[in-house]
Amino acid sequence: MLVFTPLSALLSAPFLAVGGVVLAMGSDVPLSGVLLVAIPVAAAVIGVITRLTTPPSRRTQVRTDAVNRVLREQITGVRVIRAFGRDAHERRRFAAANGDLMAVALRLGRLQAFSGGSALLVINLAAISVAALGGPRVVGGDLRLGALVAFLGYLTQILMAVMVAMAVFDMVPRARASADRITEVLTTEPGVPEPVIGAPLPAGPVGLAVRAVTFGYPGAEKATAREVDLVALPGQTTAIVGSTGAGKTTLVNLVARLIDVDRGLVSINGVDVREFGRRALADLVGVVPQRSYLFSGTIASNLRYGSPDATDDELWHALEVAQARDFVAAMPAGLDTPVAQGGSTVSGGQRQRLAIARALVVPDLGSTCSTTRSRRWTRRPRPLYALRLPTRSGTRPGWSSHNGCPRSDRRTGSSCSTRAVSRPSARTRNCRGSARPTGKSCTPRGNDERVPPHRVPVVRRDGPGPEPRARGRGDGGGRAGADDRRPRVARGGD
Ligand SMILES: Nc1ncnc2c1ncn2[C@@H]1O[C@H](COP(=O)(O)OP(=O)(O)OP(=O)(O)O)[C@@H](O)[C@H]1O
Ligand SMILES: [Mg+2]
Repeated sequence: MLVFTPLSALLSAPFLAVGGVVLAMGSDVPLSGVLLVAIPVAAAVIGVITRLTTPPSRRTQVRTDAVNRVLREQITGVRVIRAFGRDAHERRRFAAANGDLMAVALRLGRLQAFSGGSALLVINLAAISVAALGGPRVVGGDLRLGALVAFLGYLTQILMAVMVAMAVFDMVPRARASADRITEVLTTEPGVPEPVIGAPLPAGPVGLAVRAVTFGYPGAEKATAREVDLVALPGQTTAIVGSTGAGKTTLVNLVARLIDVDRGLVSINGVDVREFGRRALADLVGVVPQRSYLFSGTIASNLRYGSPDATDDELWHALEVAQARDFVAAMPAGLDTPVAQGGSTVSGGQRQRLAIARALVVPDLGSTCSTTRSRRWTRRPRPLYALRLPTRSGTRPGWSSHNGCPRSDRRTGSSCSTRAVSRPSARTRNCRGSARPTGKSCTPRGNDERVPPHRVPVVRRDGPGPEPRARGRGDGGGRAGADDRRPRVARGGD
């Protein structure tokens, strides 16, 4: 509709204008002199007005965006606003943004009203001129009344056609700007391109290797991750530990291919993650985002998000592994308990545990195992990578790895808020979470000298900057604790 109406007006305008001029001249040549003046004047008026309205119409768009942004922030952050008692401030902020929009919208509205009025003024002035010139001739019998009326009709049609054409032409630059933007979006290559033919999923336990990975966000001065090495072996839990902004989430995003490395290699069982199709990689790597997000629906629909065919038994099992079974079972509707958008109807901790459970519900890819559960939980040993946020001052950044359970923070007694488990069976076996230690040590050790050197990814922090940097092999960086600022790898044995 938006395209068709101006286009049809533009296409019909020349025919209407030329046809009108021919017919007008055919009915009376002397009166046609009015057209010589009226047409350029109408074109000039419309040209000037459209030139005046273009900047405010662009500004209107920008300010509408600003109002929407403020409004969205206020709706999203309504609890923070209330908690800090900043209602009045936010009201003023909205009023300012809205006032800006109103000012430019009023200016635009006035110009548009003036534009319509001036177009009619030109047409009516031309009609008055024709009547003034033709009237005496009709009285004198020099011109028939019917010819005068017809001429007035042609005149109106010609001028309307000219004005419509001018208005449509004025839309062309703006339409081109919009079309360029749309083309830009449509032709943007995805940052994480899909392989033409995805690599087959590895069978059996999976291990992760990060080799000399460097990544920087577009426009950032420095790389966030530089020459990072890391190995996460099957059956072990690997925790990535670092101060805030050190690049932990970035590293996990590289593993899950939410972003791609600039240099280096992230591989699963030796296969570059870029060779897996997006869906296949999602089957291998489950992500619990730092800010857990649940969709509106039910607990079951959220848990089945990545695996729509999962049975209720499998959901309960995932809930148990994520230590969410008890509170879900206590809800009157159990798995069918409604969840509001964003998961706002459950507590933050519950939301996090449900997000962990969701990552543990793995699509069934078929197996020879006899029971569904064993098929899911032994056949698809998917690693789950997520982040703990050890942001206390004094926490040393680094990698640590231990066997099968999320690291418990012995100093604070708190458990990891998010975790990395290499496979659900390992968690089930060794670790009902840090709240229920199994007697097996979950504390990361210093660099385990039993681990062969090539297995020991070591990162260090040079200076106060946030970048984790890798140490080369055999550079002596493996002794944890030698330097408090040096992150280390600790690895639990099997
Ligand atoms: N989308 C982004 N664009 C630009 N820079 C970013 C982006 N995301 C993160 N960064 C920067 O990259 C660095 C690492 O961020 P990252 O989120 O990986 O840190 P983190 O270790 O997970 O921190 P935290 O413990 O606070 O979660 C930070 O300096 C951050 O400012
Ligand atoms: Mg993070």
